[in-house]
Amino acid sequence: MQQALSSQALSSQAPSSQAEIDAEIAEIKNDYERAGAEENQPRLDYAPYRSSLLRHPTKDLHHADPESIELFAPVFGHRDLGLPESDLTIQHTGEPVGERIAITGRVLDGDGRPVRHQLVEIWQANAAGRYIHKRDQHRAPIDPNFTGVGRTLTDGDGTYTFSTIKPGPYPWRNHYNAWRPAHVHFSLFGTEFTQRMITQMYFPGDPLFALDPICQAIVDPKERERLVATYDHDVTQHEWSTGYRWDIVLTGTHRTPMEEEDPGA
Ligand SMILES: [Fe+2]
Repeated sequence: MQQALSSQALSSQAPSSQAEIDAEIAEIKNDYERAGAEENQPRLDYAPYRSSLLRHPTKDLHHADPESIELFAPVFGHRDLGLPESDLTIQHTGEPVGERIAITGRVLDGDGRPVRHQLVEIWQANAAGRYIHKRDQHRAPIDPNFTGVGRTLTDGDGTYTFSTIKPGPYPWRNHYNAWRPAHVHFSLFGTEFTQRMITQMYFPGDPLFALDPICQAIVDPKERERLVATYDHDVTQHEWSTGYRWDIVLTGTHRTPMEEEDPGA
């Protein structure tokens, strides 16, 4: 968010209106449909997402050989993580305010195989849309019983589960009256520190999707849909919490250096 503030500070223009942002999103969408080439990742320089113009990478990734330690570390075991870390509602003395939810799903590789015993971390705003972070000065209450961070390991079936509070939408300064849809940030480690994926999970039916340049930076609607969880009544628990299911598919299969060096073996 600070980047967005900086880019606006550099600009002498007044913040754009939502209508202007909507028009830019529509124009890019039309161009995308006309071009007919499928994209499955967010655009890095997406004009309606203002700060992405200044801060997006302009050079290809520089590939460096990882240190040998990075090829087998970190290894997280069940001894490293406690059960309470996957339940964001019991980290303080009192109960947090908001709608209690469970989020569960499977982490799968590009071939549909479970990614077992891997670290999944989440962070999110509270029910009022406020993060506990010095840069978040949005005028909404901090919940003393909710920090908004959790982590767990996938089980042998690649399944993760979190108990938490449904986050609220929050404003940001991309343009005038800009609001982010409610979302949970996810980080997934692969088998080494050099593999990390960060993404956001959204909730179904959010009216802010169409207005949000970060969502819309994934220009293909099918791909955007992959970030939206499904309400699952089987995950919902009687008189306790509602439930959402969200599977995560990591692209491609992890290949060891040996396979790359000798693909015929
Ligand atoms: Fe966020």
